[in-house]
Amino acid sequence: MIEETVEVLKSKIGNVDVAIVLGSGLGRLANEVKDAVHIRYSEIPGFLRSTAPGHTGEMVYGLINKKRVLLMNGRFHMYEGYSPKDVAYPVEVMKMIGVKKLMVTNAAGGIKLSFVPGQLVFIKDVINFAFRNPLIGPNDEKIGPRFPDMSQPLSLEWIEKANNAIYENMKQKLEIGTYALMLGPSYETPAEIMMLRKLGVDMVGMSTVPEIIKANHVGLEIMGISCVTNMAAGVLKQPLSEKEVLDVANSVSSNFVSIVKIIIEKTC
Ligand code: HPA
Repeated sequence: MIEETVEVLKSKIGNVDVAIVLGSGLGRLANEVKDAVHIRYSEIPGFLRSTAPGHTGEMVYGLINKKRVLLMNGRFHMYEGYSPKDVAYPVEVMKMIGVKKLMVTNAAGGIKLSFVPGQLVFIKDVINFAFRNPLIGPNDEKIGPRFPDMSQPLSLEWIEKANNAIYENMKQKLEIGTYALMLGPSYETPAEIMMLRKLGVDMVGMSTVPEIIKANHVGLEIMGISCVTNMAAGVLKQPLSEKEVLDVANSVSSNFVSIVKIIIEKTC
């Protein structure tokens, strides 16, 4: 199946300098693509349907600041009923079409108390609290090792270059934190958030970790950015809602777009 997916994509797009997975409410970057080619997931054999709110369900290929980008506008989550292998499938496809650099973005709850809603944070490390791994099952050594190294799951070199570029342009740097995947779709309880904070977790969400594991497996350079859309459960005396998550992600999208465009131009 994957050969068919790759063949169809290769017939529609050219070389890629960076692939970017856009998280909930962060799809506006797609409007910045010049000479855009839109490929709906339904046109790509082997691709699933994106059912999550704020996820369009298409690839967009074209130019941003003269770099060739492939955006995934909408990702797959385990809470939609997909297996971790399904969720990570696009990353294997990206490797096979020649992608070398992958940026993954998400909306996340802030656990670190100094974070504020709207803040963007680089992900330096992750905890897989879904306890489910996309690499379970037979391994094809031609794609990657049976036991991939995860001692530096995200590229610290890329983060440093990106933060230097952001500083040059905007006189600010992004913070760097640890992200935990919880399976969802219910948001976490205050006790779960307290546990995660004690374990050193800064951001929590329901995505991204399967893609990061797969990227390590196939040897892509990977960067992650969380948009803190809300303080995690129990931090504030207010309930969490999907509306708040999408509203905040949308409200910071111009800052998100500016920062990602700098990263694309200066580091990809
Ligand atoms: N928890 C889990 N996922 C999320 C959150 C959260 O607080 N905010 C945005 N995605």
